[in-house]
Amino acid sequence: MSSAGREVLLGVGGGIAAYKACDLVRRMQDHGFLVTVVPTPASLNFVGKATWEALSGRPVLTQVWDDVPSVAHIRLAEVSDYIIIAPATADLIARLAQGRADDLLTNVVLASGAAKLVVPAMHPEMWNDPATQTNVEILRQRGFLVLDPEVGRLTGNEIGAGRFPETARILESLHEISGTHADLLGKRILVTAGGTREPIDPVRFIGNRSSGKQGFAIAQAAIARGAIVHVIAANCPDLDLEGAQITRVETTAQLGDVLRNDFSDCDVLIMCAAVADARPSSVPENKIKKDKLAAIELVPNPDLLLEMSALKSSGQVIIGFAAETENLLENAKEKLTRKNLDILYVNDVSRGAVFGSDHTKGSILLRSGEVIQISEASKDTLANVLLDQLL
Ligand code: CTP
Repeated sequence: MSSAGREVLLGVGGGIAAYKACDLVRRMQDHGFLVTVVPTPASLNFVGKATWEALSGRPVLTQVWDDVPSVAHIRLAEVSDYIIIAPATADLIARLAQGRADDLLTNVVLASGAAKLVVPAMHPEMWNDPATQTNVEILRQRGFLVLDPEVGRLTGNEIGAGRFPETARILESLHEISGTHADLLGKRILVTAGGTREPIDPVRFIGNRSSGKQGFAIAQAAIARGAIVHVIAANCPDLDLEGAQITRVETTAQLGDVLRNDFSDCDVLIMCAAVADARPSSVPENKIKKDKLAAIELVPNPDLLLEMSALKSSGQVIIGFAAETENLLENAKEKLTRKNLDILYVNDVSRGAVFGSDHTKGSILLRSGEVIQISEASKDTLANVLLDQLL
C-alpha cells in the first residue's frame, strides 16, 4: 500500500517537543503523506498556529467552536487515515484515556476509527507516575500504538525516560500502523524518467518513445517504502507525484548536469530514462527550411550511466535499463558488465511493446548472473520487484 496521498492528522500536545513535530510534518510530507495539524490550545504556547498552517499548507483549528458550520471534528475524523499525537503530554494522555472531548483534537479522536499512534514526551517523574502508566495501558488496550519515550537529556539538566523520539522512529511506527513497508526508510533514491530530446532547430527535435511511466512508478513505490526520492523527469509533462522532488529537463546535457550534481549524495541511482545517444552537431537559431533538411549531422552524447558508474562509491547501488528488440539476454549481459551495474532491467520492446503502456515484459539481470523473467507485469509490480532486488 502506498503512503502517497494518505491523510494523516497530527495532534500536537502542549509540550516543548512540539517544536520537533514541525520536522515530523515535513518528513511525513516527504513520504507522500498529506498532513493536517490539530494542536491543543495549550500547545500554541510553544508553536503557534501560523507555523502549522505554513508547514501543512492547510487551515489549523483547535476548538470545535472555531468553524461550527464545517463540523470540523466529524469531517476530520472521516478523512483521516491515521492519527498521530506527537508530542502527547501527561494531561493529553489522561484526557484521551478518559474519552473526554474538550478540544477539537480529543473530539476527532473519539469520532475516528483510524489507526492511532501516540508519541509521549514528558519528564520521567510524570511518565513513571502510576496515573500516566495506567492511562497508557488503557490506550494500548483500546488499540492505540503508544511509543515508549526515549531516554536522554530533557528540558533543564535532567536525564531520563521522557524524550521525544527521533523523527525516523516515529515515521517507522507510522509505516507500521499504515501497513506500508518502510524497508527503504531514509534512503536517497535518484530516478531518471522519460526520454531526452535533442533540438534540431527551434521547432524540431530528435526524441524517443519513452513515456516516463516506469520511472514514475519506481519513484512512487520507493516513496511508499520510505525513501527520499528525487525524480529527474525528461519530457513527461503529464506525470506528477506527491512526496518527491521533481526536476524537469529536456536534453541529455541538462539531465547530465542534474545527475553530476546529485549523484554523490544518493544511495541508489535508477537510470530508467531513455537517453538520446546522439544530438545534432549544431542547432541553428532559425527553423531549417525543408529543402535543407536532407541530412542532420550528429555527434554522440556522453553515456551518463557509464559516467556515473565510474564515480560510484562502495555503498551506492546502480540500476540500469535497456531497451532491446533482439538478442535480449546476450545484449543485456554485455551492458550489465560494460556499464558496471548492480542490476539491469531489459525491456523487450519488439513490435512497439512497452512504450506508453502500463505493462512491461522483459528480464531482470543481477550481477550474480541470476536472471528473473518478467513475463507480463504492471509497471508498478516491476517497480516493487526491482526495489526488492536492490535491497
Ligand atoms: N544511457 C545513458 N546515457 C546514454 C545512453 C544510455 O545513461 N547516452 C543509459 C540509459 O538510461 C539506460 C542504459 O544506459 O539505463 C541503457 O541504454 P541503451 O540505450 O539501451 O544502451 P546503450 O548503451 O545506449 O546501447 P545501444 O543503444 O547500442 O543498445
